[in-house]
Amino acid sequence: MTLAVVTLAAGKGSRMKSDLPKVLHPLAGQPMLAHVLASASQLGQAQQHVVIGHGAEKVQQQITTFDVSWAMQTEQKGTGHAVAQAMPDVDPQATVLVLYGDVPLIRTETLQKLLDETHCDKGIGGLALLTVELDDPTGYGRIVRDGAGNIQEIVEHKDASAEQHKIHEVNTGILAVSAELLNEWLPKLSAENAQGEYYLTDIIAMAVDNGVAVRAIHPQDEYEVQGVNDRLQLAELERVFQRQQADELMRQGVSLADPARIDVRGSVKVGSDVRIDVGCVFEGDVELADGVEIGPYCVIKNSVLGAGTQVESHSLIDQAQVAADCTVGPFARLRPGSDLADGAKVGNFCEVKKSVIGKGSKVNHLTYIGDAEIGENANIGAGTITCNYDGVNKFKTEIGDNAFIGSNSSLVAPAKVGAGATVAAGSVITKEVADEELAVARGKQRNVSGWQRPVKK
Ligand code: UD1
Ligand code: CA
Repeated sequence: MTLAVVTLAAGKGSRMKSDLPKVLHPLAGQPMLAHVLASASQLGQAQQHVVIGHGAEKVQQQITTFDVSWAMQTEQKGTGHAVAQAMPDVDPQATVLVLYGDVPLIRTETLQKLLDETHCDKGIGGLALLTVELDDPTGYGRIVRDGAGNIQEIVEHKDASAEQHKIHEVNTGILAVSAELLNEWLPKLSAENAQGEYYLTDIIAMAVDNGVAVRAIHPQDEYEVQGVNDRLQLAELERVFQRQQADELMRQGVSLADPARIDVRGSVKVGSDVRIDVGCVFEGDVELADGVEIGPYCVIKNSVLGAGTQVESHSLIDQAQVAADCTVGPFARLRPGSDLADGAKVGNFCEVKKSVIGKGSKVNHLTYIGDAEIGENANIGAGTITCNYDGVNKFKTEIGDNAFIGSNSSLVAPAKVGAGATVAAGSVITKEVADEELAVARGKQRNVSGWQRPVKK
């Protein structure tokens, strides 16, 4: 059995009040549509089709990491019409799973259960529906069953009788059925209904008429089938999703100071006994080895932190490699290409870019290190600046093992300070300092005795 997933994403999403097509609005840093495609892609060999209309170009431009075949629906004439636009590209032997680009939290396990329910592996199979019981079913298509509990049809809210409005079991829109049956039924849909639309839901009654089995299953979690129409609903699902990720991290052995105050926009791989304080944001692919501790209000993007490393509050780490037992922060910024060896320290109000900080070396206060290579056990004094940029070109600074750079020094790159060398505080270094040398490059102190301060006239 081949599988074709058809995701509907042509709607305008007016209630988002946005220039961005609705399905591109991010949830945990990824477009909602990408979440749907990711869940479907885990079903195995699926051909993915996406029906687009409003903002089609933007959607195609932004959804690049999935192998998708696009179908255009220039006018939104209903869900049945939308699915029909994809059918010419769908393998006629396939089982079709219909999903929605604005229903982002659907789980792969639920979809697999739904597909199993079609029994398409044993021939043409039946129709499987995902339904839920809602306390307030207003607005939804109702699942109409006969006295024996067999599904008869779906009636849209606007077409339903007063009696049918009392039904609490509603259609989520997600269904699975063979392409063969869809190709037979979709051309027969009519738009003679309250909304003048070609309703996908009308195929249920056709299935019943044709003696095709219709079965319904429920998702494990109501949020899986919750659609997003406005930013309030998106924010609600964002919190649900973040909480799920937080719970998963805790199950993996991470201590979270508050599972409601962490945001993961990507993936976090963790070792054992990782601790994360409140207000931290993780983006892209982050790895935290055993015993890593992250203080409050840190942002960590696409970085790897080695075992036992501590990041103190308000630090920003982006595309950095931090080895074991390092200390970073508070208020540190590691920019792309920062590479800290074991036991290195980067302290408060320090910025590091594209630089190696060797084993055990310390950059503790108010410093900028850019395009530099620092050896082992060097001490970089407070306020040190690597002057790596002349306004046009970038140059390198090399600092050897055990070097000591006195406070408030400027190292004008290209610069080289040898192993064991010392730079006196307040120096502006423009010439190479050899191993073990002392460089003093500052105005000499002159004391004037009997000096009178100016007085007011
Ligand atoms: C649909 C179902 C309803 C179900 C509800 C669940 C139909 C006729 N009704 O109603 O039974 O309870 O979803 O939320 O299917 N779309 C297109 N092209 C179109 C029309 C819709 O791409 O021409 C997309 C929309 O962007 C949206 C989704 O399909 O993401 C659902 O469409 P919408 O019009 O909101 O359907 P509902 O009226 O909510
Ligand atoms: Ca809807």
